[in-house]
Amino acid sequence: MMIQKCVILIGLSFGILTHAFTSGEIDKKVEKLLSQMTLEEKIGQLQQLPGEQDGTYKSELETQVKKSLVGSTLNVRGAQTTNQLQKIAVEKSRLKIPLLFAFDVIAGYRTTFPAPLAQASSWDPQLIQEIESVSAQEAFSAGLKWTFAPMVDIARDPRWGRVVEGAGEDPYLGSQFAKARVLGFQGSRVGEKNKILACAKHWVGYGAAQGGREYNTTDISENELRNIYFPPFKAAVDTGVATLMSAFNDLDGVPASANPFTLKKVLRDEWKFDGIVVSDWTSIDELINHGIASGGRDAAALAFDAGVDIEMASFNYHKFLPDLVKSSHEVQNHLNETVRRILRLKYQLGLFENPYVTESAEAQALSDPEHVKLARTAAAKSFVLLKNEKNILPLSKALSSIAVIGPLADNKDASLGWWRGDRPHIGEKFRNTENPTVSVLEGVRGAISPNTKLTFSRGCEVLTCTQKSIADAVSVAKSASVVILVVGEIAEMSGEAASRTNIGLPGDQLDLVRAIYETGIPVVAVLMNGRPLAISWMAEKIPAILETWLGGQEAGAAIADTLFGDQNPSGKLPMTFPRSVGQIPIYYNQKNTGRPFDPASSKGKYFSKYIDEENSPLFSFGYGLSYTQFKLSHLHLSDSKIHPDGHLQVSVQIENVGSRSGEEVVQLYIHRKVGSVTRPVKELKGFRKVMLAPGKKQIIQMNLGPDELGFFGRNMNYSVESGQVDVLVGNSSDTLLQDHFNIK
Ligand code: NOJ
Repeated sequence: MMIQKCVILIGLSFGILTHAFTSGEIDKKVEKLLSQMTLEEKIGQLQQLPGEQDGTYKSELETQVKKSLVGSTLNVRGAQTTNQLQKIAVEKSRLKIPLLFAFDVIAGYRTTFPAPLAQASSWDPQLIQEIESVSAQEAFSAGLKWTFAPMVDIARDPRWGRVVEGAGEDPYLGSQFAKARVLGFQGSRVGEKNKILACAKHWVGYGAAQGGREYNTTDISENELRNIYFPPFKAAVDTGVATLMSAFNDLDGVPASANPFTLKKVLRDEWKFDGIVVSDWTSIDELINHGIASGGRDAAALAFDAGVDIEMASFNYHKFLPDLVKSSHEVQNHLNETVRRILRLKYQLGLFENPYVTESAEAQALSDPEHVKLARTAAAKSFVLLKNEKNILPLSKALSSIAVIGPLADNKDASLGWWRGDRPHIGEKFRNTENPTVSVLEGVRGAISPNTKLTFSRGCEVLTCTQKSIADAVSVAKSASVVILVVGEIAEMSGEAASRTNIGLPGDQLDLVRAIYETGIPVVAVLMNGRPLAISWMAEKIPAILETWLGGQEAGAAIADTLFGDQNPSGKLPMTFPRSVGQIPIYYNQKNTGRPFDPASSKGKYFSKYIDEENSPLFSFGYGLSYTQFKLSHLHLSDSKIHPDGHLQVSVQIENVGSRSGEEVVQLYIHRKVGSVTRPVKELKGFRKVMLAPGKKQIIQMNLGPDELGFFGRNMNYSVESGQVDVLVGNSSDTLLQDHFNIK
């Protein structure tokens, strides 16, 4: 007893818990409740039903809640609305089991932060944890207890629209962000006040959709799954993530929502995950389309047996589990175990003691100016300076004239991206309020001197230009000292069900860019987009390019902060930019192949290369410039030889040799020449973001141990194999310094 109380006190020091029970007490309560439940009530806990897009719900949902046919909802939100539906559950249903309210809080709840891929460009896990903490607090105030985030799918194909929702292509970087997001949303243990459950999704392989086509088949070897696709999920599980979502895709012929290998063997048996798996939206129904279930009964049996606990939006468990349970003791026991897990979570969340949320606290939580400030800083930290010829950036605020041109320059929608939390959906009007999003035009207007003449022309729409619209823009450009050209994708062009085959600038925007370039007036391009773009022409001709992704509601203000030097860009690409679509999939941690091509030394035809394109990317993983310059030197390894279970310190000096303060990301990669399976040419294994004043230097230390040096070898076990390890350090994956050591 003493020990348990002690554990709780330690727990309290991490955050205020919403319940006062020990885990033993919770188990007893769960058993008692379970013994009173009918079969229908148990299956009801496995049913998740949606409310309306705007957060409200229809009366049928109340009826189902009253009958105990629903355990959780999605989309229903707002303190008053959730309380109202909760009241039905805890006052009108037979056993008064509270509901769990879930929602996709992906780039914020009310405050819209940069999209996750943008956030990942900050290479700043602390910042990301803070963003999710604010998002959790806002969502909590609106009655929510569960978000379907983080999405931790590794994505190597920018044609896939959902790359915008993840952390990019790298398992190590992805794992650091998975951890930060889970901690931000959930806290250090389930049930803290102002925290909500996280959900690592989509388990698993969804990002490997063939051809980048949404919902498409995936085929990934077990070795690739374990070394590349699993690690961010494992990081989330190790951090205590309470839930996972099973994916839409089929994986090596077995759909992820009925896959015993991933759901049972890996997740439950190997990783000892004891949380909840929710299906993706109708993904149990879709087992029929996948062709592994002949009907709903089969679908329910396969998904349930594999380990999907909650069915989202479709009704196969509701319809067929009663019969399946009656015909098998095993299924009955499995059902009890699943219900136990769900009820335990509801107890841990404090829902039985306090099912309601304080309505009077919501408005304040959703209008905190500090949250908006964080959105602005986060946006600036997510921008990546791709090019800055002759230091054209930052611009002076006192230029005589600036022309802001481009279809996205006055757009107040694109930067909000696809997931908008509690904001009105794409194409819908803002309710009762003005759209608070800051456009680039507004941001620039707010930043410059009153004496600077500011002109504007859209020049094009995102998909179409006319000769006249381009001619207008050209004449506006000609009378300016500099052009800020804002081009890219609107929100609908990335996110779910938004795959593209041509990932250049959409529509005719390149015609506009060319016409403005030909005026000879210096051009600064601001890109807004939800994926890496293939923009070779721009990269060659346009002197300065700032990648701003989908920067959230404060994007325009943060862009102005950056263009005029109040913020020094420090973002680094979490995903490779290809030169052309034909290079995809392209990622830095590729294999060497039997015939590696080195442009400097490979002579002849028979190398791994294209005959019409370079192998190298347009912009590499980890790349991003600053307004200042940094110098890396003095790479030092603490040992030349270590044991497989040993550790080694890597130190390197970083110096700001430019004239401004700035942040740089020091990146540590390794390469193993020999392994029981082929190894990538480089693997990120550590990074540090440091702020340095001009002339200042710092020694950075990073550790390499079994967590960094091991991998899944030929026998599919994780181990640190002996052999030489190259250590490569740089400020992008095009590393600069190199040394090596041996493991023996
Ligand atoms: C489908 C998406 O794939 C998933 O990410 C999301 O959480 C659910 N819809 C619920 O909105």
